[in-house]
Amino acid sequence: MSVDFGPAGIPFMTEKEYNDTFESQQGSGTISVWHTRYWGWKRWASVLLGASIIVTAVVVPLRVVAKNQYPSYSKLEYSLVDTYEGEGFFDMFDYGNGTEATHGFTNYVTREGAEWSNLTYATLNQAILRVFPKDNTGTAGRPTVKILSRQRYTHGLFVFDIAHVPYGCGTWPAIWMSDPDPDVWPKHGEIDIVEAVNQGNKGAQFTLHTTDGCQMNAKRKQTGDALSVNCLNSTNYNMGCAVRGVPASYGERLNNNQGGVYAMEWRTAGIRMWFFPRDQIPQNIKLRKPEPSGWGTATADFPSTKCDINSHFKNHRLIINISLCGDWAGAPPVYSEEYSCPMDCAEYVGSNPEAFQEAYWAINSIRVYTAPGS
Ligand SMILES: *[C@@H]1O[C@H](CO)[C@@H](O)[C@H](O)[C@H]1NC(C)=O
Ligand SMILES: *[C@@H]1O[C@H](CO)[C@@H](O)[C@H](O)[C@H]1NC(C)=O
Ligand SMILES: *[C@@H]1O[C@H](CO)[C@@H](O)[C@H](O)[C@H]1NC(C)=O
Ligand SMILES: *[C@@H]1O[C@H](CO)[C@@H](O)[C@H](O)[C@H]1NC(C)=O
Repeated sequence: MSVDFGPAGIPFMTEKEYNDTFESQQGSGTISVWHTRYWGWKRWASVLLGASIIVTAVVVPLRVVAKNQYPSYSKLEYSLVDTYEGEGFFDMFDYGNGTEATHGFTNYVTREGAEWSNLTYATLNQAILRVFPKDNTGTAGRPTVKILSRQRYTHGLFVFDIAHVPYGCGTWPAIWMSDPDPDVWPKHGEIDIVEAVNQGNKGAQFTLHTTDGCQMNAKRKQTGDALSVNCLNSTNYNMGCAVRGVPASYGERLNNNQGGVYAMEWRTAGIRMWFFPRDQIPQNIKLRKPEPSGWGTATADFPSTKCDINSHFKNHRLIINISLCGDWAGAPPVYSEEYSCPMDCAEYVGSNPEAFQEAYWAINSIRVYTAPGS
């Protein structure tokens, strides 16, 4: 029987012809068994079988290993470097002004303006930042505030003790970190530690924004819901790689529970964020010896597996603002459809000062810790 057994391009031989050729050539010592043109179907079969065993034994486990790759968030020794609290709270910040890249209906006031209209106010125990709750502003943006820390940070453990978060139709508040220079953003990245829109009743969002090459489709250890995994600013209209916490992590429910603590750890291994309700704040945070390794699973975990944290994030200022309307809070599918807020966002914000009674941050303290070898 004649069997077609040669690989493409090699003249067919019967098995007998092959064996004859092989034996005669072998006798002359000029051909090795590695010359595939002289292989029979049995040899091809065993080579293919061998190859598939190698694929199964080596490549598949490698893929499993890659899928299970996870950075080592080893224990670090943190010590306190900066405290933002008390009557001098606002002395550690600059006030931002001007227009927003996100098209907010805002009028960010100077420090003098904010003090004059009581939009920022600090006592021994608390710092308040609010949206101006009086007067119709017509077509001009409503007065509000944005503050930026004078100090810049790369790495660290940031602990925000918050008593009250701003919420209400038209609001877009955030506590975030970035190098906000418009010529630089987002080259040095942006870390949004707390962010919500409108009634803020769907939970706080925790998000990174970066240039290309920062993905979160890797193994993560978090309790929050990942909403998107590509941190690149130009995907999904700059949505970033966002994670959402439980509904009680923001808004009225949080305020009714005397607020809580948001913490963000930024290190080579990754960026992790936690939300703790007031009655579940870890003891070591209260003792000002924070130790994330004992805090349990993070709310949001951004491991360095597919994102080189150190090349995407550096030189950040701490930023707190309350934006109004704009690309997220004010977009009709969000403002009107998702949150059922009245009128058009800018029209509502301009003409309803009394709607901003709850639009304020009450911040008990912000503490920044750093650790060697982070
Ligand atoms: C806005 O901020 C810039 C930069 O800090 C400053 O130079 C400018 O004077 C401020 N504008 C007003 C109206 O205060
Ligand atoms: C204020 O915060 C919002 C929410 O993070 C942001 O989108 C907006 O651009 C900020 N405004 C300014 C002037 O930084
Ligand atoms: C400013 O705001 C603080 C905090 O809400 C309040 O206690 C204080 O009475 C206000 N001051 C004025 C002059 O309205
Ligand atoms: C993303 O960042 C680039 C600069 O790297 C900028 O030109 C672009 O406008 C940004 N896109 C969005 C949607 O923010």
